Amino acid sequence: ISLKPYNTFGIDVQAKRFVTVNSLLELKKIVATEKELFLISGGSNMLLTKTIEDLVIHLDFKGIIVNETEKDSVFVTAEAGENWHDFVIWCISQNYGGLENLSLIPGNVGTSPIQNIGAYGVEIKDTFHQLEALEIETGKLRVFNNKECNFGYRNSVFKNELKGKYIITSVTFKLTKHKHNFNISYGAIKEGLKAIENPTLKDISDTIIAIRERKLPDPAKIGNSGSFFKNPVITKNTFEVLQKKYPNAPHYVVSENEIKVPAGWLIEQCGFKGKRFGDTGIHENQALVLVNYGNATGKEIYSLAQKIQQKVKDAFTISLEIEVNVI
Ligand code: EPU
Repeated sequence: ISLKPYNTFGIDVQAKRFVTVNSLLELKKIVATEKELFLISGGSNMLLTKTIEDLVIHLDFKGIIVNETEKDSVFVTAEAGENWHDFVIWCISQNYGGLENLSLIPGNVGTSPIQNIGAYGVEIKDTFHQLEALEIETGKLRVFNNKECNFGYRNSVFKNELKGKYIITSVTFKLTKHKHNFNISYGAIKEGLKAIENPTLKDISDTIIAIRERKLPDPAKIGNSGSFFKNPVITKNTFEVLQKKYPNAPHYVVSENEIKVPAGWLIEQCGFKGKRFGDTGIHENQALVLVNYGNATGKEIYSLAQKIQQKVKDAFTISLEIEVNVI
């Protein structure tokens, strides 16, 4: 079957064998005999460039469970196949705080820890309590706490040592019940909320949805995978050289000797923003997002990415690292 409906980039590649899995029991049966698996959940962080030979498992576990064991917080467990944004909106409707800044991020709950999804000053590691995952080799369930996931910027143990070894089946978050710790430090959020005196979780979420809708293409309309590259972290010295030429270069200080520069800005300086090449392109409102206007192939998107990497390297001597999973 074609995987086009299963990846937000809308890339049309074939899967030789495909199965939708709705229960842990079914999943356990499969991993008992099949070891070469290709997991697809929300399909929001991958670029498919070829036919998938392995058995494709479309994980579709559903359900949300609430455990109220502490006075000020609540433990909420969502099954891997729950849509991320729907889950965030549900938490807000229950007045559970902590995920509101992560509104409108594509994908499902089960894949959110793999790249430690983050936006507007918040990452899931800030509220992540634990996850359950099935080890493919042994068929055993294992619990990973926050520390064991080894979260970093767009990173976790599941992108490194344990890559391809576990299937995440559910994720538990520790959320606030009444006293919320809003994070509205990000400039555009402050701006969006300035007319509201005591913002609620929903006000913050609505503001973020509006910002994202302005900047980011809706994958239902234009295929994309969000940020295609990571924001590079460079040394202070490299940044000072850059700043001489571009005094207004946007940047965030990471540590005493490290500066993060928005990749979108670097790409825009190279003249790519809004450009279209065949059915591939660079989004007009956010140069960090590569798009598929309809029938682009994964290889075409990938070669555009390489062209961008080369231009940025030539112009700034900065290497852009690809953030999406290229298959
Ligand atoms: N900028 C440009 N031109 C562009 C894009 C950005 O000049 O085309 C500059 C502007 O100065 C802007 C700054 O970059 O102020 C930051 O842009 P933005 O707020 O859009 O954030 P970002 O650094 O480009 C990161 C995440 C996004 C996340 C936003 C908001 C990464 C790789 N991306 O983007 O995450 O939503 O911050 O927190 O860290 C994603 O991972 O898919 C994603 C969308």
